[in-house]
This record gives sequence, structure tokens and C-alpha cells, in this order.
Amino acid sequence: MTTDISGIDLAAFIGGLPKCELHLHLEGTLAPDLKLQLAERNGIELEQKTVADVEATYQFDSLASFLAVYYPAMGVLQSAEDFRDLAYAYLTKAAGQGVRYVEMFFDPQAHTGRGVPFDVVIKGYRQGIEKAHAEHGISAELIMCFLRDLSAEFAMATLMESLPYKDWIIGVGLDSDERDNPPSKFAAVFARARKEGYLLTMHCDIDQVGSIDNIRQAVEEIGVDRIDHGTNIVESPELVAEVKRRGLGLTCCPVSNSFVTSDMKATEIVSLLREGVRVTVNSDDPAYFGGYMTENFSALTDKAGLTPAEILRLARNAFEVAWLTPRKRDGYLAELDAYAESFGITA
Ligand code: ADE
Ligand code: ZN
Repeated sequence: MTTDISGIDLAAFIGGLPKCELHLHLEGTLAPDLKLQLAERNGIELEQKTVADVEATYQFDSLASFLAVYYPAMGVLQSAEDFRDLAYAYLTKAAGQGVRYVEMFFDPQAHTGRGVPFDVVIKGYRQGIEKAHAEHGISAELIMCFLRDLSAEFAMATLMESLPYKDWIIGVGLDSDERDNPPSKFAAVFARARKEGYLLTMHCDIDQVGSIDNIRQAVEEIGVDRIDHGTNIVESPELVAEVKRRGLGLTCCPVSNSFVTSDMKATEIVSLLREGVRVTVNSDDPAYFGGYMTENFSALTDKAGLTPAEILRLARNAFEVAWLTPRKRDGYLAELDAYAESFGITA
């Protein structure tokens, strides 16, 4: 990436852009070196001894094959300090890339299911958030995801377990393997979560069996406030119109897409952006896919030939669809616009 026709250095523009990340799995930020460190701290004997050994296990070409690597790796996360260190390490990296605010997914069932108590997970993550805020000024909220390949009863029990920590959780999401696990399976859980005051989002992963039906269910039956991925709506003009009518944001993850499908879906993402859908750029599981926020913006810009104004629109979209108070949102947008204006770009 060099300069665009107006002479703007795109890499510099993207590098310094004040960013908002809305699709980030904390467990997906477990970098190989931290994994090795935590294994040692917890006296866990891993087959992999070096960063290269860990990276060599990253063999995936689909959502299911990715998840088969992803869940076993979490075994090194055991104490509140481990969860704290994971969140802190990601937030430190993100702050260094200009991320100002992030809404982060966590998967409590991936931990409670192997005997780590819910409160250990959430207290650790919370400590990491507070430490990163104090040291780097970055702000973050938590979104609790249910694992869709487990039962609705387990999800409901997890929802109940989360209630004492409501002040630390901004919303709920749905992740893991979408195949045969449509949104409707969790309708009662999401209805109860809404009653409890949580905002709602859901993964509608790329090119799934029944993608369009699942997105329709998420929008119309569940009434989500946002959609994670969701780019398959390009196949359905009425769904595009409905997503626009409702003002729903789509949290797209270009680099991740290129690992779990045949390409980063740049054409689809940019065509939705140009149609006025509130598309955003995110990193998903950056330790596994090798791209944090800057790399995702850069990859999409290179592939799709984004203009500086379009890069600004993507960054603005994220702050606009984030679950922020109006006062905080306006503050971030003012900072972003002032930054863009310093490059001669106006919103
Ligand atoms: N868990 C972590 N990353 C995920 C993704 N992209 N889709 C579904 N579940 C996930
Ligand atoms: Zn995801």
C-alpha cells in the first residue's frame, strides 16, 4: 500500500486512525508466546515447546477446523491472573494500533465446561481491562457469548450465572459452530437476556449452510442489535434493505474470512459499504489469523482499493454502531474527524 490518487499516505493514515473494534474474541488473542508462558506458570506439559511449534498447529481452512484448534488451546487459561494477562496483552497491542474503544467477546462456557469457575474468568478479564485503561487509556466492554453447538439449557444457565456481574457485561452474543445450530435454538435465551437489559448480537458466519435463513432469523425473530460477520446478506436484496432500515451494523473480519473461507470477501464487504450498510472492520481472532486492526484495514484497502473517505467511513461506522453512550460516541467521532481533517479528509 502506498499513496492514493490524492497523494495521501494510506499506511500512515490507517496507522494513526482512532479505531473502534467490535468483533474480537478474547480467547482468540492467545498469542503463541503467552500460551507457552501460561502453560509453564500452570505446570502444564504441552506438546509444543516453541512459538514455531504452536504456529505449526494453526492448520485450518474452515470454521470447524479452526475451532478444533482453538478450544484445546484454552486449557492453559486457569487462574484469574491468566485471564487478566490475556486481556491486558491484547488491549496493550490494540492501544498501540490506535484502538480507542473495544467491545470484546468472551466464551465463559469454554472455561466453566472444563471446571474453571465463571467468577474467575470474568474477574480476571475485568482486571485486565482496568489495568489497560489505567496504563494505556484504552476503554473496553465485555460481550458474553454462548456456544451455539452446546445446549440452549447450558446457555440459559450461563445467562443466569452472569446476572451478578451484569454491570461488567454490555451484551450477549452467539458463536462457535453454526452448522445445525440456528439462532432460533436460542430464542428463549436471547429473549431473557433482553429482559435482563443486555444488548444482543450474534455470529452469522460466512458461507454457512443456511446463512441467509440464519441471518433472517437473527434479524426478525431474535431482533439483534448488531450482526457479527453477516456479509452473506449481499445475496438477498430484501435482507440488505431490512438491515439498512434497522440501521444494523455488520462486524466484518477480512483477514479472518480469508482463513475460514476461500477469500477475504472484500468485494462483498465493500459493495455493502457502498450501498450504505453500516459495515465495520475487525480482527476476530488475531492471534490465530495474524492480523490485528491495522492489518485488517490495510488488507481490505489493498484488496478493494478503498479511498481515504471510505476508510474513514468504516472507522466512523464502528463508533456509530458501538454500544456507547451518546456523549462518549460524540467524543470519539470528534477525535476521528479531527484526525481525518488533518489529512484533508472530511466525513
Ligand atoms: N469463535 C471464535 N471465533 C469465531 C468465529 N469467527 N466464528 C464463530 N465462532 C468463533
Ligand atoms: Zn467471531
